[in-house]
Amino acid sequence: MSEQATHGHQFTVTTENMAKPKSVFVCQNCGAESAKWVGKCYSCGEWNSFVEEIAVSKSKDSISAAFSSSEKSKPAPLSEIRVDDLPRIDIRNKELNRVLGGGLVPGAMVLVGGEPGIGKSTLVLQMALHMPKSKILYVSGEESPQQIKLRGERVYRGDTDHCLIVSETSLERILTHTQNISPDILIIDSVQTLQTERVESAPGSVSQVRECTAGLLRFSKERNLPVILIGHINKEGSLAGPKVLEHMVDVVLQFEGDRNHMYRILRSIKNRFGSTDEIGIFEMQQSGLREVQNPSELLLSQHDTAMSGISVAAATEGMRPFLIEVQALTSSAAYGTPQRSSTGFDIRRLNMLLAVLEKRAGFKLSAKDVFLNIAGGLKVNDPGIDLAVVASILSSNLDMALPTDTCLAGEVGLSGEIRPVTRIGQRVSEAAKLGFKSIIVPVYHKGVDFSLYDIEVKQVSKIEEAFRLLFG
Ligand code: TYD
Ligand code: MG
Repeated sequence: MSEQATHGHQFTVTTENMAKPKSVFVCQNCGAESAKWVGKCYSCGEWNSFVEEIAVSKSKDSISAAFSSSEKSKPAPLSEIRVDDLPRIDIRNKELNRVLGGGLVPGAMVLVGGEPGIGKSTLVLQMALHMPKSKILYVSGEESPQQIKLRGERVYRGDTDHCLIVSETSLERILTHTQNISPDILIIDSVQTLQTERVESAPGSVSQVRECTAGLLRFSKERNLPVILIGHINKEGSLAGPKVLEHMVDVVLQFEGDRNHMYRILRSIKNRFGSTDEIGIFEMQQSGLREVQNPSELLLSQHDTAMSGISVAAATEGMRPFLIEVQALTSSAAYGTPQRSSTGFDIRRLNMLLAVLEKRAGFKLSAKDVFLNIAGGLKVNDPGIDLAVVASILSSNLDMALPTDTCLAGEVGLSGEIRPVTRIGQRVSEAAKLGFKSIIVPVYHKGVDFSLYDIEVKQVSKIEEAFRLLFG
């Protein structure tokens, strides 16, 4: 048989008996598809993100599965839907419960994202072990059961028979195990290791992740089984690969922090059953993650003598007020261009504040190196710490310490005006609770009755006024 004939024969077989596996190019950043390879994604603008993947055949069984699951749902008017019907599973971890909006909702799919090594596996395993009344299946595609056992022994001493561990990456086998064991909670570590036979691309690719999550989602909704998925995030801070994942799941939590520091923040980015304003704070210790109920006490360093360049901001993250130390150092620039460096605070915002100080308040900082650091390795997004940033820079520049019993809250505008901040009452109350004698706040909050709090409240409208209050 000639070579040509063989080819011809094969060709007829593929077209008649099964559809030729169609390949499609998929953006690994946002999941956009294209028939041809393109250098720049038309959807998210990312370069070189398209990878060839085998298209998922939308076979008949997926449609029939969708039909069968819809039989269980029943349309009802809003007035007949009861919210208190929404039961919550108490996961016995105050910070996690808080971020979830009061507990885990049965049938919910929760995605926990974070950089590698930040502590996602520790957090979720610790949670599972501390729930002796629930049967939990922990599926790991990254670690062996032995590794998980070692970690488990570090974070929990007690009965662990309720938590079953399996190392598995095949979605089909995971679902079989789940069906046999019928756990109360299913944990998958991590979604990027999952693999289904229905898709031929590599684990971690957009089509695999999307297809596996869709399969899990259908399974979980039909059985009302809560699923916790762990997902890695990439350098840019978004969940690796598909944004599609964020749309599919009910709750997205992000675990953040600096690996070299001990504090971790669990932030709610999306929550179909609660507010996204909640955060949970943890401290990474030898024996796992400790819940931090009162963050302020930890974020303030304890020193007896006043030092220049240090100020205390009354900040909020989500709904929670806490006091945090802002440290600044200014020095004459040794080389031509002065350096500006910032840890835990947006560098562009720092540059803006420096420009405001220079232009509106007449401080000559353009020939100075400026270093800024938020204590504890936390990243603070709250613009209400502007005033504390400005105060610590001026304090370092003048080499004059700020009064240790004073803290600040206020956003700084481009003309040097002090702008209002959110949740002023909570900030003032937190400062009073921690024993501060006075707090400087924007004049804008006139209507607020500050006499409720055991602290002197000084209101300012411009940077110069704050400056005079602090340095006389
Ligand atoms: P891990 O949960 O494996 O991170 P992830 O799943 O997000 O990749 O945790 C990683 C780090 O946590 C690891 O470097 C060691 C540290 N760690 C502790 O400090 N104390 C502990 O008790 C445990 C279990 C881990
Ligand atoms: Mg892990």
